[in-house]
Amino acid sequence: MFSAPPPEEREPVRAASFGDLDAATVYAIMKLRCDVFVVEQKCYYADLDGRDTEPGTRHVWLTRDAQIAAYLRILDLDTPGAARIGRVVTAPAARGSGLAGRLMTHALTVIGERPSRLSAQAHLTGFYARFGYTAEGPEYLEDGIPHVPMTRPAQLPDQGSAAISSAVERRRPV
Ligand SMILES: CC(C)(COP(=O)(O)OP(=O)(O)OC[C@H]1O[C@@H](n2cnc3c(N)ncnc32)[C@H](O)[C@@H]1OP(=O)(O)O)[C@@H](O)C(=O)NCCC(=O)NCCS
Repeated sequence: MFSAPPPEEREPVRAASFGDLDAATVYAIMKLRCDVFVVEQKCYYADLDGRDTEPGTRHVWLTRDAQIAAYLRILDLDTPGAARIGRVVTAPAARGSGLAGRLMTHALTVIGERPSRLSAQAHLTGFYARFGYTAEGPEYLEDGIPHVPMTRPAQLPDQGSAAISSAVERRRPV
């Protein structure tokens, strides 16, 4: 069980390319992804898709009690200048305390003014909408799980930070 620290002692969010991750961190990230997306969600799919090591990929995570508590990754898309957020996950014992929200906020600072997209598990569209994502197509099945494609347009210079602040303000305190 993770213990939630008081706000003033909250863990920093970290971001790194694959080459800058140490072996123990890579192992812990992949274990969390496997434990949740494959085992918990009972979904038989190739999580290690070859994109983690791409030079443009950024891994974003935070640790709590010396374990990876939450994680997401940001991919460069084929469309020049666009990004994709994926593999958004919080360890079961750490859920409901705002960690995924903190990672999303940080991811948007990494993405900056670039347009971005993600495939939301259908029940989470409201969560991603807080961060400026809107559905761009009908629900579809991905590895047997209902998903909705969502996009966030390119941001004007001041728009990005305003959207992030607004999303943070709408969150309950943690
Ligand atoms: C979805 C997930 C990442 C949320 O992590 P978290 O750290 O608990 O999220 P936060 O505490 O920052 O935010 C919680 C918000 O997520 C949404 N949410 C989480 N689980 C939800 C659920 N089962 N149904 C609907 N909304 C849900 C809610 O909007 C909630 O906001 P609220 O607490 O104000 O109601 C986590 O439950 C998880 O890892 N799930 C399994 C993996 C997964 O499905 N990932 C999403 C891929 S698109």
